[in-house]
Amino acid sequence: MTGFRFLTAGESHGPSLGVTLEGLPAGIPVTADAIAVDLRRRQGGYGRGARQAIEQDRAEILAGVRHGHTIGSPVLLLVRNRDWESWTRVMQVEPLTDADAAELAALAEGGNRRAQAVTRVRPGHADLAGALKYGFDDVRPVLERASARETAARVAAGAVCRSFLAALGIEVWSFTAEVGGVAVDRATCTRTRAEAEASPLRCPDPAAEARMIARIDEARSLGNTVGGVFEVVAHGLPIGLGSHVHWDRRLDGALAAAIMSIQSVKGVEIGLGFEQTRRLGSEVHDVIEGRDAAGTWIHRSNNAGGLTGGITNGEPLVVRGAVKPISTLARPLPSADLLTGEAVEKAHYERSDISVVPAAGVIGEAMVLLTLTRFVLEKAGGDALAEVRDNLDRYRERIGRGPAGAPAIRATGATAPEPGSGEAGSGGDD
Ligand SMILES: Cc1cc2nc3c(=O)[nH]c(=O)nc-3n(C[C@H](O)[C@H](O)[C@H](O)COP(=O)(O)O)c2cc1C
Repeated sequence: MTGFRFLTAGESHGPSLGVTLEGLPAGIPVTADAIAVDLRRRQGGYGRGARQAIEQDRAEILAGVRHGHTIGSPVLLLVRNRDWESWTRVMQVEPLTDADAAELAALAEGGNRRAQAVTRVRPGHADLAGALKYGFDDVRPVLERASARETAARVAAGAVCRSFLAALGIEVWSFTAEVGGVAVDRATCTRTRAEAEASPLRCPDPAAEARMIARIDEARSLGNTVGGVFEVVAHGLPIGLGSHVHWDRRLDGALAAAIMSIQSVKGVEIGLGFEQTRRLGSEVHDVIEGRDAAGTWIHRSNNAGGLTGGITNGEPLVVRGAVKPISTLARPLPSADLLTGEAVEKAHYERSDISVVPAAGVIGEAMVLLTLTRFVLEKAGGDALAEVRDNLDRYRERIGRGPAGAPAIRATGATAPEPGSGEAGSGGDD
């Protein structure tokens, strides 16, 4: 018996992308229209290249859904690449006949860049390592799969998980927190979530967004690119997803891997993240106020980002991903040729994005949704959505009552111990 898992397939300029989701319960509402909402969000954002105007992604639901609901069997989604029409010969699936090969060679000789072998490997991309590892004399097969076009399949899968988790009262959203060194200021995040969602960079701080856009314009005018940071937040999680008992059952570890697996993400923070290292313990750890009358455990702050010991603690989950600047530059860096090993003045260039942080945030949401689905099913799994909901409700009720033998619920007002009050032990836990 295996738990929930998913697997994507597809190349950037191949016929289509696909994803199989296995282990979902029956009864989850799924429609192509609902999936299209997230696919559209992934394609937006100031700083993206021309491709987004060509592709208007829509998932076809090919299996696992009947009359708008999952039926417990694997769900298969397909997102066709509209751009495929321009790549049919270059990305042909069937073996090339002599005539096909001659046509391709003629296209390349005639200056069609799509048909030419890519050998001037791009710094910062998968080109060199991928081609050497798989034994290609042309980078095309590597860049086709390394491309973040693959994330359309992840986002489609994430949309199915969004529907599942929404039925359990769990909601996931993201926003752009930083671009090109310009960060949002929490004090001036005046936009509502809907306003931020509709803004060019999916950003809650209008003043910061204007400066972020200026950074992107500046980079574009220089043939350059910029990175940034997105933040994903999940609300409505019960206490107790994940576990401290083993490294691969920690939710923080699984989320870090999931976010880090997004193309161009080079760092992950949970809660206060690296900033914690610059503060004293008393300034970092979230004081536990107690259980309120409704049975909800209250923390005074949420620097831990909703996770302690690899387990959700009932506070909102906060995960950030650091996105490096896109590596395909309109003014390419020097590089080397894959075949000759000699230095070349300019790396390969093909149509590319300048900045992708808002899109990366939507992909981050998908990865969080997919990861949370696995952990929710591990905690409260069942074959039908109603069964999962019942399991979770019963568990939530038990958590709200506290451990066996706990007194009846009362509002508490615990305060943090004064430093040096002697409440801390003298030993470490390692
Ligand atoms: C939404 C999104 C769009 C991207 N678009 C491009 C692009 O147009 N050009 C490019 O060179 N890299 C792009 N990337 C990044 C590359 O896919 C990534 O740098 C490459 O696969 C190498 O992986 P690594 O950066 O994780 O090492 C994009 C990444 C994301 C998340």
